[in-house]
Amino acid sequence: MTPPPVRSICCMGAGYVGGPTMAVIADHCPEIQVTVVDLNAERIAAWNAPDLTCLPVYEPGLDAVVARSRGRNLHFSTEVDAAIASADMVFLSVNTPTKTRGVGAGQASDLRWIEACTRQVAEAAQGHTIVVEKSTLPVRTAETVQTILSASQQSGDGTAKSFSVLSNPEFLAEGTAIADLESPDRVLIGGQDADALEALAGIYSQWVPSERILRTNLWSSELSKLTANAFLAQRVSSINSIAALCEATGADVKEVACAIGTDSRIGSRFLKSGPGFGGSCFQKDILNLVYLCRHYGLVEVAEYWEQVVSLNNWQQRRIAKLVVQRLFNTVAGKTIALLGFAFKADTNDTRESPAIRIAKDLLEEGAQLSIFDPKVSTEQIQRDLGVPPTDGDSSWKQATDPVLACQGADAVLILTEWNHFNSLDWKAVSSVMRRPAWLFDTRATADKQAALSAGLQVWTVGEG
Ligand code: UDX
Ligand code: UDX
Repeated sequence: MTPPPVRSICCMGAGYVGGPTMAVIADHCPEIQVTVVDLNAERIAAWNAPDLTCLPVYEPGLDAVVARSRGRNLHFSTEVDAAIASADMVFLSVNTPTKTRGVGAGQASDLRWIEACTRQVAEAAQGHTIVVEKSTLPVRTAETVQTILSASQQSGDGTAKSFSVLSNPEFLAEGTAIADLESPDRVLIGGQDADALEALAGIYSQWVPSERILRTNLWSSELSKLTANAFLAQRVSSINSIAALCEATGADVKEVACAIGTDSRIGSRFLKSGPGFGGSCFQKDILNLVYLCRHYGLVEVAEYWEQVVSLNNWQQRRIAKLVVQRLFNTVAGKTIALLGFAFKADTNDTRESPAIRIAKDLLEEGAQLSIFDPKVSTEQIQRDLGVPPTDGDSSWKQATDPVLACQGADAVLILTEWNHFNSLDWKAVSSVMRRPAWLFDTRATADKQAALSAGLQVWTVGEG
C-alpha cells in the first residue's frame, strides 16, 4: 500500500541547513506546503525580507530558489506550534553544538535543543506525524526522540496521535549548498517504519534519481553522517600533515596531491592543503565520534580520530607562529592584513574558521590586524575575536577592499580561498605595503609569480 502523501512540512530551525534544504524541497514539490520555523524572530524576519540580498544565509543561487517559492508554498514563521499542528512531517534542524559544561564537555553534543523541540512536537502535533532528524546527532538519539514522543499519545481534543521517527542527515557543504541539494551524491534515510520511509523517499524522488536514495536502519544513518564528516576531515588533516613535510623537504604539496589523486582508489577531491578545516561540523562531529567511542570503551578508536582534530589545531597554530618568525620574531605594533575570514569561500559563515585562531594568536602578539572579507560583517568578526577593535597594544579593523586592508602592512595573509584573491593586483598591493613585505598564502591560491615580481616575499602552504 502506498503511504498517504505528505501535504504539509514543518522544519524547526531556519539555519544554514534548514533554510536552504526546505527552499529546495518547496521548489521541487509545489503541492507541499513547507513552513520553516525558528525561535529567533530576527532570523525569520530576514528570511521574509523583500530584499533577497538580506537573507540570513549567503549561498550562491539560494535567492533565486527562495524567490520562486516564498509566499507560494514556502513560509518562514515564528508560530511554531501552529506549524507543527498542521504538519504531516516535522524536520528537526536545530543546532547541536559541542557541550561546554557538564559530563562530556568539549566532546559530546549538546542535545538540549533537540530535546526541547521534540517535546514541543510531542505537545503540539496532531494525528500521525513523521519526525525527521536532520541535525547531526549521536548514534541512538532517535531512541530518545521516540521515547519522548511516545509519552504523548493524545491531542488536546482527545484524538489519538502517533509518531514515526526517521534519520535523514544532510550532506550539503556550505558555499555549494544549492548544487549539493539539487544533485546530491546520495540521500540517506534511516528508519524502521517502511511507510514513513517511503513517504520521505517520495519527496526526494521528485528530483533525485531513485538509485541515489539509500535506505538503512536508524543507527547506520546516524553513524554514517558522523563517519562521512570524520573521513573528509581526516583527508584534510592528512594532506596538511604532508604539506608540512613538503615545506621541510622541498616537495610541493600541490604536485603530491595531484600525483596521489589520480589513483582512482584515492580520488582527487578534498586534497587541498590549507590553514586547517573549519565549519560547524567537522570538529564537532569528530569530537562526538570520539566521545561515543570512549562511551563504548573503544579507547584506541577514540584516540585515532582525536588525532585528526589535534593535527588541525596544530596547523592553525603553526601558521600564526611562522608569520611571527618570518617577521623577525615580532609582530608587535605591525600591521598585518588578513584576506578572508569565512571558514571557506562562498559563505558568510565563520564557525570554527581557522582565521579566528590565527587572528587571535597574532593579536596576542600585539599585531594590528586589518581584515577584509567580502561577506562577513564587522559584528560577526567582533563576536568571533571576542575583543573590541582596540585592546591593549593590539587592534583590529575591517577594511572595505583588499588593497585598503594592506595599507602600511608588513604582511598579508590569504586565509579564505575567495575568487577575489586569485587575481589581485599585486603591484597595487605591494605599493601600499611597508618593506620588506610578505605574502603568506595559506590556500595556495594567489598568483605567486605576480606577487614575487611586485617585490613581495612569498610563503605558500606546502611549498618547499
Ligand atoms: C545544522 C544542523 O542542525 C547541525 O546539527 C549540523 O551539524 C550543522 O547544521 P545549522 O543549520 O548550521 O545546523 O545551524 P544554525 O545555522 O545555528 O541554525 C539552527 C537554527 O535553529 C537557529 O536559527 C536557531 O535559532 C534555531 N533554533 C535552535 C530553534 O529554532 N529552536 C531551538 O530550540 C534551537
Ligand atoms: C562539511 C561536509 O562536506 C558536508 O557534507 C557536511 O554536510 C557538513 O560539513 P562544510 O563544512 O560546509 O561541509 O564544508 P567543506 O567543503 O566540507 O569544508 C570544510 C573545511 O575543510 C573548510 O574549512 C575547507 O576550507 C576545508 N577544506 C576542504 C580544506 O582545507 N581542503 C580541502 O581539500 C577541502
